[in-house]
Amino acid sequence: MFARRIAVVGSGYVGLTTGACLASLGHRVVCADVDGKKVERLRSGEVGIRENGLVDLVNEGVASGRLSFVVGAATALDELEREGAPVEVMFLCVPTPMGVGGVADLAAVEAVIEEVREALPDGAVVVNKSTVPVGTAIRTAELLDRDDVAVVSNPEFLREGSAVHDFLNPDRIVVGSSSQDAAERVAALYARLGAPMVLTDAASSEMIKYAANCFLAMKLSYVNAIAELCERLGADVADVTEGIGYDKRIGQAFLSPGPGWGGSCLPKDTHALLQVADSADFEFRLLRAAIDTNTRQYQRMVDKIRTAITGKRTGSLTRKRIALLGLTFKAGTDDLRDSPALGVAALLKQAGAALMAYDPGISVEAGTIDGALLTVADDPYLAAKDADAIVILTEWPEFRTLDWPRLADEVGRPIVIDTRNLLDPAVPVKAGFSWIGVGRVARGAHTSWNDTEHSSYERAR
Ligand code: UGA
Repeated sequence: MFARRIAVVGSGYVGLTTGACLASLGHRVVCADVDGKKVERLRSGEVGIRENGLVDLVNEGVASGRLSFVVGAATALDELEREGAPVEVMFLCVPTPMGVGGVADLAAVEAVIEEVREALPDGAVVVNKSTVPVGTAIRTAELLDRDDVAVVSNPEFLREGSAVHDFLNPDRIVVGSSSQDAAERVAALYARLGAPMVLTDAASSEMIKYAANCFLAMKLSYVNAIAELCERLGADVADVTEGIGYDKRIGQAFLSPGPGWGGSCLPKDTHALLQVADSADFEFRLLRAAIDTNTRQYQRMVDKIRTAITGKRTGSLTRKRIALLGLTFKAGTDDLRDSPALGVAALLKQAGAALMAYDPGISVEAGTIDGALLTVADDPYLAAKDADAIVILTEWPEFRTLDWPRLADEVGRPIVIDTRNLLDPAVPVKAGFSWIGVGRVARGAHTSWNDTEHSSYERAR
């Protein structure tokens, strides 16, 4: 494969992963960022984000001379030029936060275009990897105002925590542009990965990203709703999702119920697409319902906790001590952005509960999270001390191997509400706990788990 000369602008989790992975595929990559301190750290091999395999890839790239870091997009172009040949492809991997009314804020994209507008060589390709509203490629081309530089949309489908794996083992590569030649050149960067390629126009490519994330969000809200119905009707959601997941049209992935979906992408992208739909005079009821179902899910978890502790859906949580296990929006990350765990914690706090949390991905140095919303302990047994209930909010695998007899000694009352259906219920039950899951309370809502009561559990595993 012919190696290309690439600038990646924005060295956050998307940019850094993209840069390090493209360098590992043999390309020469200069990563740029506006944050000088971050660039310093990256140069000394400090990656700063929790991402499996990324540190090694960055170090390998730097050692091979194929990967380097600079401050500023224009400097990245200069660096490649100085080496003897100009940049061929420039990736935009800058943040597109949720702006007014839910639409992505493109200020960072605009600033970079302004910075490199004149410096880009004839024939270069600008690639947008950030999630941007449909129409941004056209807008970017207008801002660039260069007939000799093509703009391409090439969305990323990386999950936090497994971004390197996802980059190097993609389900598909999507490339969209009005210039077929530019699209093919960008697609060729990934040729070694052997993934299916979708070559399309820029608007469709931008839409694919939103359509994918919003579909995943709808799938999760659907499964959370099915879980609630299972509770009401005495069915077991683990068996139900297994049963539907074998249908290839549905698939097993993204069928785990939980306290709601969160993170830096699904909430932002669902709101953005809803907003875009509104402005196109289209009432996207399905998507709105998925968002509403998710917001309601936090309250539903609180109701579940309230019922478990007080025996009543309307009981008071004032001064009840609740141990929260897991704060991040999912396991394997230290990211708290739009975390459902924090959403549930905020509602519990409002209801007067005293919260003590533990999360293996969060350091206790700060002592508190989210404006003193809750106190963080540095081990789960400390968090559980005198608790009226333990609530599992993030699916960290290590919670599966907690010492439940020891926890039984620590807590005030042996109740565990497992909002991720993470545990083998038999384990806490054996230590004297009541286990309450999501969609898995087969014999009437809020009864405690009893393994003889529910023999299909083992089958479902
Ligand atoms: C998501 C998409 O999965 C990626 O494909 C996409 O590239 C990325 O957004 C992005 O746009 O950058 P990510 O935000 O890292 O990735 O997180 P997910 O793994 O999708 O999880 C999102 C939320 O859904 C989490 O709160 C997670 O706990 C929850 N979830 C996921 C469930 O409740 N159940 C499941 O079965 C799966």
